[in-house]
Amino acid sequence: MTVAFVTGAARGIGAATALRLAADGAAIAVADIDENACAATVDAIVGLGSKAVAIGCDVTDEAQVDAAVDRAAAELGSLDILVNNAGVLRDNLLFKMSVDDWDTVMGVHLRGAFLCSRAAQRHMVPQRSGKIVNTSSVSALGNRGQANYAAAKAGIQGLTRTLAMELGPFGINVNAVAPGFIATEMTAATAARMGVSAEDLQAKTAEITPLRRVGRPEDIANVVSFLASDNAAFVTGQTIYVDGGRRL
Ligand SMILES: NC(=O)c1ccc[n+]([C@@H]2O[C@H](COP(=O)([O-])OP(=O)(O)OC[C@H]3O[C@@H](n4cnc5c(N)ncnc54)[C@H](O)[C@@H]3O)[C@@H](O)[C@H]2O)c1
Repeated sequence: MTVAFVTGAARGIGAATALRLAADGAAIAVADIDENACAATVDAIVGLGSKAVAIGCDVTDEAQVDAAVDRAAAELGSLDILVNNAGVLRDNLLFKMSVDDWDTVMGVHLRGAFLCSRAAQRHMVPQRSGKIVNTSSVSALGNRGQANYAAAKAGIQGLTRTLAMELGPFGINVNAVAPGFIATEMTAATAARMGVSAEDLQAKTAEITPLRRVGRPEDIANVVSFLASDNAAFVTGQTIYVDGGRRL
């Protein structure tokens, strides 16, 4: 059975991705910083008749990541798909951005994707197959108030291209999705910080999006599913923008 390790899978895009990959037939390691928070996703997957385990793991912690990936492979039988999805925001204009804001965002997105990918390839290289899907963002193109996040999400694209070069000879595809505005707790928190309701921010964003709506977590999960499938067997090193045309 195909086994997928999805980080930040307790909620939002990660949870939708875990469910979608389970529907595709994979057993899922539902990884998040708080193991208890993974219960809802695990229950939903088990409800689909698929297999899932909750794994508490802070993706910035080398020992926790190595142990979590090894545990997933041991309990579920292999490691075939890694989805680096865990993320946080610490938005601030440059003059107000603290070193902690910078380090936290770099740590979760970039160090996290590096540590999880390094741990996963230890399983994928010997079996000569694997799929890694990273999570960039339209913010990689630049976004006011997100110097840390934009730099991390652009970094994810460089990491993706480089890992594709290094791991391709071992049958491992490495790609990224770059979501636009997706309705999750992350964007609801952004709305709260701006002093507007989540619905108002979604409506305003939909107006300036060619497809005239914001994204749903399933919109991203569908593209991750494609990149993790054999339909994308000859696709590697790519970043696919999934943003309703927002940044055209
Ligand atoms: N929502 C959007 O509009 C949007 C747009 C572009 C990119 N993204 C990216 O998509 C990914 C998922 O975003 P979301 O909107 O579902 O966010 P979310 O805040 O709803 O979920 C993020 C998850 O990551 C987990 N997480 C945070 N730090 C962690 C750590 N150190 N270790 C393990 N898990 C950790 C959280 O506990 C949470 O469950 C993120 O990488 C985000 O940057 C989101």
